[in-house]
Amino acid sequence: MSKINDLGIAKLIYDGKTTELPVFEGSEHEKAVDIRALRKETGMITYDPGFVNTGCCKSDVTYIDGEKGILRYRGYDINDLAEKCEFIDVAYLLVHGALPNEKQHAEFSSNLNLHSLLHEDMRHFFDAYPDHAHPMATLSAMAVSLSTFYPELDDISLQENIDYKVTRLLSKLRTAAAFSFKKSIGHPIVYPKRSLKYCENFLNMMFWNPVNDYEVDPVLAKALNKLLILHADHEQNCSASVVKMVGSAGANLYASISAGICALWGPLHGGANQHVIEMLQRILTEDEGDVHRIIERAKDKNDPFRLMGVGHRVYKSYDPRAKVAKQMCKDVLATMGVNDPLVDLAQKLEEAVLADDYFAERSLYPNIDFYTGLTYRAMGIPTNMFTVMFAIGRMPGWIAQWLEMREDPHGRIGRPRQIYTGHAQRPVI
Ligand code: SDX
Repeated sequence: MSKINDLGIAKLIYDGKTTELPVFEGSEHEKAVDIRALRKETGMITYDPGFVNTGCCKSDVTYIDGEKGILRYRGYDINDLAEKCEFIDVAYLLVHGALPNEKQHAEFSSNLNLHSLLHEDMRHFFDAYPDHAHPMATLSAMAVSLSTFYPELDDISLQENIDYKVTRLLSKLRTAAAFSFKKSIGHPIVYPKRSLKYCENFLNMMFWNPVNDYEVDPVLAKALNKLLILHADHEQNCSASVVKMVGSAGANLYASISAGICALWGPLHGGANQHVIEMLQRILTEDEGDVHRIIERAKDKNDPFRLMGVGHRVYKSYDPRAKVAKQMCKDVLATMGVNDPLVDLAQKLEEAVLADDYFAERSLYPNIDFYTGLTYRAMGIPTNMFTVMFAIGRMPGWIAQWLEMREDPHGRIGRPRQIYTGHAQRPVI
């Protein structure tokens, strides 16, 4: 793929010198100034905290149009994928660049089950964690520990072995997530079953126990597939950039994913889905459901509080994933006959945000984290597991981005520059 068009040059005129910089566009006509020669030509660097205006790579994986609210994985629209595919099809698509045919789907599904067990020694890790351990901490530890149980295959064999690594990470980390939940509630862990598909296996490991004969509800399995698809990739977001930064140093895939899990944990990133529920619960208990106080707090520049699940670095319109998540939340709760006051409150809060100039002027809309937690909650998944669900969904995207970085013949170790503003040289007395 990799469609690039050269668009001539941009001129930087400074201090009596004109520097010519190439301009190019990608397959969706996004334009960039290539500044790779800037420091050599001018002695200057660019300054862009948070990389708001800075592209780190060219990528074939995911396309986002933040103004139009478009999200596509390998050219397929998110609504199409969420409606017609299973999560493992989308995982395959992100890693391999094409949707699997029936044979590839069956093989991938069978491999996921084959690699779904954790090494028994890893199971004992859970005995050492306190019951209240946050499952994102255990998930990150499990991810990097996989490299000790499954020693890194050298990079030469990376391509041949990528399906092993992909299925191990996708499958074993899903198992580890369910184990950490069981440990936290003092229940016996439930092993994966060969006869169950990816999402069904997760729900069974989470909710079966010797005295409840749990049956996986197909409505919930379908909803979980959709939720994981919505989270599967999002181009150069914070955690994907961390996975690639760690990988750019030559660290193995398990270590890179472990770092990405930690970045996702942050409340400004994937951790927001947990904080949305906690925020809604606080509105219900402390403000009797009145959303205006929390809106005023979010607008108050002297208050560091941010409205969780609202705003986005790229989407300056309604996050297309949030639209799907909102409708799915209503459908799942209606099917389950669940009436959660937090759902009505969330809709009230959304209406207040959309009607308020402060948010409109800054193009702040609900993002993916605003409604997803409400569906997880209806499924019986505890709040502190919501970001783990985000990580399980995002796993194939992280892997696809990491692979693309590793396969780039011009790839270099990630190492941003800075402008020093500290002390001039001074002697030690
Ligand atoms: C994810 O990058 C991705 O793709 C991420 C993600 C993915 O799939 O990987 O989409 C997943 O992380 C979604 C975002 C989840 N986080 C939250 O919901 C936390 C709340 N949102 C904000 O913290 C914020 O909107 C960010 C972190 C998401 C984006 O921050 P930016 O791009 O750095 O925006 P900013 O801080 O520069 O804000 C611009 C303005 C500021 O006001 P002014 O200084 O211009 O007056 O908008 C304000 C901000 O104060 N603002 C908010 C706000 N978000 C931005 N004000 C109140 N509440 C908010 N939530």
